[in-house]
Amino acid sequence: MAIRQPVVSVLGHVDHGKTKLLDRIRGTAVGDREAGAITQHIGATEVPIGRIYEMCGSIIGSKKFTVPGLLFIDTPGHQAFTSLRARGGSLADLAVLVIDIREGLMPQTIESIHILRQYKTPFVIALNKVDTIEGWNSTADRPFVLSEKDQQAHTKEVFEQHMYEIISQLSGNGVFADRYDRIDDFTKAVALIPISAKTGEGVPDLMLMLIGLAQRFLETRLTKEEGPGKGTVLEVKEVKGLGQTLDMILYSGTLKTGATVAIGTRGAPLVTRIKAILKPKPLDEIRDPRDRFDNVKELHAAAGVKIAVQDATGVIAGAPIRVVKNAKDPSIQEITEETSIKIETEEKGITIKADAIGSLEALAYEAKAAGIPIRKYGIGEITRRDVLESSYGNDTHHVILGFNVSTSKDAEAEIATHSIKVMTNNIVYALIDDYKLWLDESTR
Ligand code: GTP
Ligand code: MG
Repeated sequence: MAIRQPVVSVLGHVDHGKTKLLDRIRGTAVGDREAGAITQHIGATEVPIGRIYEMCGSIIGSKKFTVPGLLFIDTPGHQAFTSLRARGGSLADLAVLVIDIREGLMPQTIESIHILRQYKTPFVIALNKVDTIEGWNSTADRPFVLSEKDQQAHTKEVFEQHMYEIISQLSGNGVFADRYDRIDDFTKAVALIPISAKTGEGVPDLMLMLIGLAQRFLETRLTKEEGPGKGTVLEVKEVKGLGQTLDMILYSGTLKTGATVAIGTRGAPLVTRIKAILKPKPLDEIRDPRDRFDNVKELHAAAGVKIAVQDATGVIAGAPIRVVKNAKDPSIQEITEETSIKIETEEKGITIKADAIGSLEALAYEAKAAGIPIRKYGIGEITRRDVLESSYGNDTHHVILGFNVSTSKDAEAEIATHSIKVMTNNIVYALIDDYKLWLDESTR
């Protein structure tokens, strides 16, 4: 049965090398016009299987795959990850968690682990920057298993020390990881692939690992669905000469120029028409701004693409989009369901606010896991009304937790007079820890 490319998200702490890795993956294709060259999509990079066979060379052996390739999404940052949803879960079929070998686990690494667990997204770990290990002898784009053989005994030892330290930190966070070439059962351990996004070493191993996992564990999820296109909006942009455009990932079915689509908003779904489907030209031509896009009539999943639409009022990043027959199509109801927020509330509890549906649900999920009751929730900045409505229940409930949001000016003024405690953070678990600490101190 035909299957589509898995959508692969890259996550990790700031500066650990997410962008560099994607640059490297793309960079190897610049100037390469052969079949199997990597193509640049909107917000996504497609690596066809032919390219992966080439990159992996000897380490691939005689293995053959039916997975047609990998579609990487360029939305680094865990907040972007939580906002990119499909069918109420994560848009990503797979993820790469990037960890800097010198720094180990950092707050956003831990946050990423929490999020991957919440969404049950299978992932691998790219242990990045191996080239910075003292004495490391680099050869560009070589598989790690071959590169390692070339290192001096001392260098290897330092590398192993760093790696085991990180494996132990991961285990402290409930992730049982091991070097990918030492794992027998991939359902029991998370594969760790040492790489350098700078030299490209280990990148072939990473690609092979992702393809292998997709082939073995995701075949049903990736089975190609015919029929109306379904996707997720990455970004809404007004473009000169095109009007309202949406960058989106099509993860199922077919999209055609002229089709009617329903798109999620904070209110009722918006029904509009696709005026044009625009595909970026191959990488080496993307610099010419007048001629950046190819107009295509039809597109099949999975792909990243820019579409021009008649109207994009109220459309938010992460919104679901799907092809419908007309404004009365019953499947529009599914859009409403996908954009509705599902959070359990209690009669007594705190208020939570976040910047998007996904991030709000992530905060609610962690609050629930920590036994913190929620009375009220919402998307957007912390407002005066939030403050006024948070002074119910006992003192421990006079709290607003804001994830990735700010506090409005008029809300600030009310906070003091109503003795409301407002805590904001852009890391969910840190916010939960802040609350617990405050609770400990205020009830002591
Ligand atoms: P944010 O998008 O800010 O979260 O960071 P990021 O994870 O995308 O990191 P980025 O790719 O921008 O890399 C951060 C810095 O590390 C840059 O200066 C990179 O050149 C450097 N860097 C990334 N990967 C490697 C690597 O494998 N080796 C070395 N030596 N430097 C690297
Ligand atoms: Mg980056």
